Amino acid sequence: MLNKIKLWKNQQQSSSLHERMLQIEEQPVPSHVAIIMDGNGRWAKKRALPRVAGHHEGMKVVRKITRLASKMGINTLTLYAFSTENWKRPKTEVDYLLKLPEEFLGTFLPELIEENVRVTMMGYKENLPSYTINAIEKAIQDTKDNTGLVLNFALNYGSRAEIVDAVKRVLNDCQKGILESDEVNEDLFSSYLMTSDLTDPDLLIRTSGEIRLSNFMLWQLAYSEFWFTEVLWPDFSEQHFIEAIEAYQNRQRRFGGV
Ligand code: IPE
Ligand code: IPE
Ligand code: MG
Repeated sequence: MLNKIKLWKNQQQSSSLHERMLQIEEQPVPSHVAIIMDGNGRWAKKRALPRVAGHHEGMKVVRKITRLASKMGINTLTLYAFSTENWKRPKTEVDYLLKLPEEFLGTFLPELIEENVRVTMMGYKENLPSYTINAIEKAIQDTKDNTGLVLNFALNYGSRAEIVDAVKRVLNDCQKGILESDEVNEDLFSSYLMTSDLTDPDLLIRTSGEIRLSNFMLWQLAYSEFWFTEVLWPDFSEQHFIEAIEAYQNRQRRFGGV
């Protein structure tokens, strides 16, 4: 890990970031970080650009933060890319957003493979266009044996729908006799969610000054640490991410204990 950070330092201009990275290394980093990447539209508006220009800029930030999370030794990075409620936006914007995975992975997949990143997705695949699904599935397939950072895209994801679907499947399995109702507990229920293979997020970051969850991981965030910033996602830098990790390391998690 130290060598990786030294190498990373050579690629950076700022040595103070390097110092902060070394400090971070001395304490446990969050195993799972989830990010609500918000503020792309406002970033574009401030520059008199179309909203989609903000989404494009935001994509570059995804690359930067993925690399940094991987170098920090974070196990899972979940990124809220498109919610089940985002279909309410104008069709041109929805189309643009759903084209981004293809563009992003078309450009960065080789880099993700080289970084030993494993791509996963949580969300409803059914109503996504084939070009979106094909790009994601190719990335999942090409990275399936990688053992480093899990880069989990929340795409067409909505937490309430996820919970309702889990309830339905639990009921169905009870009806079929696969499951007894008194076997249903928190762990069992978690295994019916889209995150069954993941641990709960330790840290949630939301950009753009909005202090809400917007239907994101309602069950899984029960005991996560929250970190909010006014910074708009396209302006979110490595420095901001480091700041969030430092804040996390200074929190005291109690999980209801003392
Ligand atoms: C976040 O930026 C990206 C997605 C929701 C896909 P927004 O598009 O929500 O940007 P604002 O909140 O309107 O500024
Ligand atoms: C949450 O942001 C969804 C994503 C970041 C993908 P929104 O911009 O859709 O949330 P609201 O509408 O401000 O709550
Ligand atoms: Mg928004």
